[in-house]
Amino acid sequence: MPTAFITGATAGLGAAFARRLASDGFDLVLLARDAERLDRTAANLHDRYAVRAEALPADLSTDDGLATAEGRVRDVDLLVNNAGFGNRGVFLDVPVSDEITMLKVHCEAVLRLTHTALPGMLERERGGIINVASAAAFTARGTYGASKAWVVSFSQGVAADIARRSQGRVRVMALCPGFVHTEFHDRANMDMSDLPDFMWLDKDDVVAAGLRDLRRGVQVSIPGAQYKALIAATRLIPRGLLTRLSSNTGRKYK
Ligand SMILES: NC(=O)c1ccc[n+]([C@@H]2O[C@H](COP(=O)([O-])OP(=O)(O)OC[C@H]3O[C@@H](n4cnc5c(N)ncnc54)[C@H](OP(=O)(O)O)[C@@H]3O)[C@@H](O)[C@H]2O)c1
Repeated sequence: MPTAFITGATAGLGAAFARRLASDGFDLVLLARDAERLDRTAANLHDRYAVRAEALPADLSTDDGLATAEGRVRDVDLLVNNAGFGNRGVFLDVPVSDEITMLKVHCEAVLRLTHTALPGMLERERGGIINVASAAAFTARGTYGASKAWVVSFSQGVAADIARRSQGRVRVMALCPGFVHTEFHDRANMDMSDLPDFMWLDKDDVVAAGLRDLRRGVQVSIPGAQYKALIAATRLIPRGLLTRLSSNTGRKYK
C-alpha cells in the first residue's frame, strides 16, 4: 500500500485529505501538535477504512518537531505539507515572534520536508508532494500572503529543478484554495460574517480538485471556477488597487 504523510491532519483541509486518501487505500502518517486528537483521528480512519494510520505528534514551529517529521517522511509516496494558521491581526498588531513562527510552519517545514522526501521519490521513480499555499499568494496579505507566495514559487522552482530526472513521475504542486470552512478563521479570531457565500469553498471539493490536478501534472492548482477567474483578474487590476482590496477582504478580527 502507498503511504501518505499529511501535516495538520486533525482538522480542516488536512483531515479532509486524510479521509480521502484513506478511502483511496493509502496508509497514513498523520502529524499535528494535539496528540490526543491525533490518536482519535488515526483510530477513526483505521476503523473506517482498514488502513494503517500512524499518529506523529510534532510541532512544526520547533526544531525538535521538524526533526521528528524529517525522521519519518523519507520513504513516503505522497507528502501533503498542509499545516498552517493565520495570526490575529494586521502586521504591527502581531508580535514578531508569531510572524516568525508562521514562517517556520509555512516555509521552513515545507522546505525541509520536501528536501527530505524528494530523494527517495526520485529513486523509486514515483511520488508526489502537495504544498498547500493559498489564493492569498497572489495578493498582498501581510506575512500570511507573503509566506504562501513563497510556497507557490518554491513548489514551481522545485518542480522545474527535478523535471528532467523525474520525467513526470514525481510531481510537486502548490495547492491554492480561496476561503474554506475549517477551524482556520476561528483559531485566528477572524470575523468572516461579511464574506459572500460564493467565496466559500468546500474542503472535500478542494481536496478532490488538488488530487485531480496532481494526477494531471498541474503545478499550481486553483480550486473553484470563481477563484480561477478572480486570480486571472488580479493580473489585470492595477497593483495598488489590488493591494488595498486584498489586504482588507475577509480580514476583520473579533
Ligand atoms: N481555511 C482557509 O480558508 C484556507 C484558505 C487557503 C489556504 N489555507 C491553508 O490550508 C492549510 C490548512 O488550514 P485549515 O484551514 O485546514 O486550518 P485548520 O482547520 O485550523 O487546521 C490546521 C491544522 O494544522 C495543525 N497545525 C497548526 N499549527 C501546527 C504546528 N505548528 N505544527 C503542526 N501542526 C500544526 C492543526 O493541529 P494542531 O493545532 O493540533 O497542531 C490542524 O490539524 C493551511 O496551510 C492554511 O494556510 C486555508
